[in-house]
Amino acid sequence: MDLNQLEEQLARIKAEAEALRQEADGIDALRSAETRLTKGPLADVLKSIKAFPPDQRGPAGQAINKTKQEIKQLFADAQSRLRQADVVGEQKKTATFDPTLPPPITQRGSLHPVTAVQREVERLFRGLGFAVVGGPEMETDFYNFEALNIPEMHPARDAQDTFWLTNGWLLRTHTSPCQVRAMERFGPPIRVIAPGRCFRYEAIDASHENTFFQLEGLLIDKDISIAHLIAFMKLLLREVFGRDVKVRLRPGFFPFVEPGFELDMSCMICDGVGCATCKKSGWVEILPCGMVHPNVLRYGKIDPHEYTGFAFGLGLTRLAMMKYGIADIRILNSGDLRGLAKADRLSGATI
Ligand code: DAH
Repeated sequence: MDLNQLEEQLARIKAEAEALRQEADGIDALRSAETRLTKGPLADVLKSIKAFPPDQRGPAGQAINKTKQEIKQLFADAQSRLRQADVVGEQKKTATFDPTLPPPITQRGSLHPVTAVQREVERLFRGLGFAVVGGPEMETDFYNFEALNIPEMHPARDAQDTFWLTNGWLLRTHTSPCQVRAMERFGPPIRVIAPGRCFRYEAIDASHENTFFQLEGLLIDKDISIAHLIAFMKLLLREVFGRDVKVRLRPGFFPFVEPGFELDMSCMICDGVGCATCKKSGWVEILPCGMVHPNVLRYGKIDPHEYTGFAFGLGLTRLAMMKYGIADIRILNSGDLRGLAKADRLSGATI
């Protein structure tokens, strides 16, 4: 072997070192690659020094040592680069959890105030043996008016500004149509409540919306009297507000009940003093009710001589406003969480 051949061999060893470095996937792999090279090919060329003429042994030894150093450096650099990467990776991993930071604020969904009250009333009435039923939002004249003892030319129709549809149907103005549907469907005795969305062609202000919720109640059985009605209504309000609520009962006219009442509760927004929500009266109409009119029973194919009953139309939207202190009805359909979330905090209502 002469010096040129030695240089060539050392270049090959360096190339091999470079290849091994690139292949190595960790510190251990780098270490064993380095050992393999120094104990194998590098040790072999070192032994071959003896075969050189004495005057060439010095330069040959220097060339081999230089290569040895370069390979050592190459692997040392690679190792420190890997270590560095490990540290950064480790930092990245731990950086995702910093126990000193306040927890991220997650927005929790919750029930709409109307839904929260609706569920509460449903729970109460279920416990009293009532079934919860629904009804169509698009109704016929028959169920919305006719069968409720409001014939075509009756002035009571004017009290409910109606969205008429081009096919002669309408958007139900109240949940009362569910009364007749329940009579037809179940027959007596009946205990049902029917919560649902209603529509009226209203000028919108703090207490009027064109879309709102009611909850209809109907109990029909033998010997049902006004005493039953009042007892149920008081129970309902006490349950919803968690305390006795000041109420007043006034005669009220609704063609489908006889006698009919307006049950008002003291306004909770202003504590009865008078505000925009209660139109400065201190009272809010919340529970119109009455004894089911014999004509309505007949429409529902129930014999009024055998059965009597009471009905009520709870203003669910209004009740939610009172319960959660929402002064403006427009908040409820607005989707504006600044108003709605306040109710959520007050009630702790979550899904
Ligand atoms: N449906 C009536 C309305 O929206 C409210 C009502 C009054 C319902 C008396 C009743 C009732 O069940 O007995 O104005």
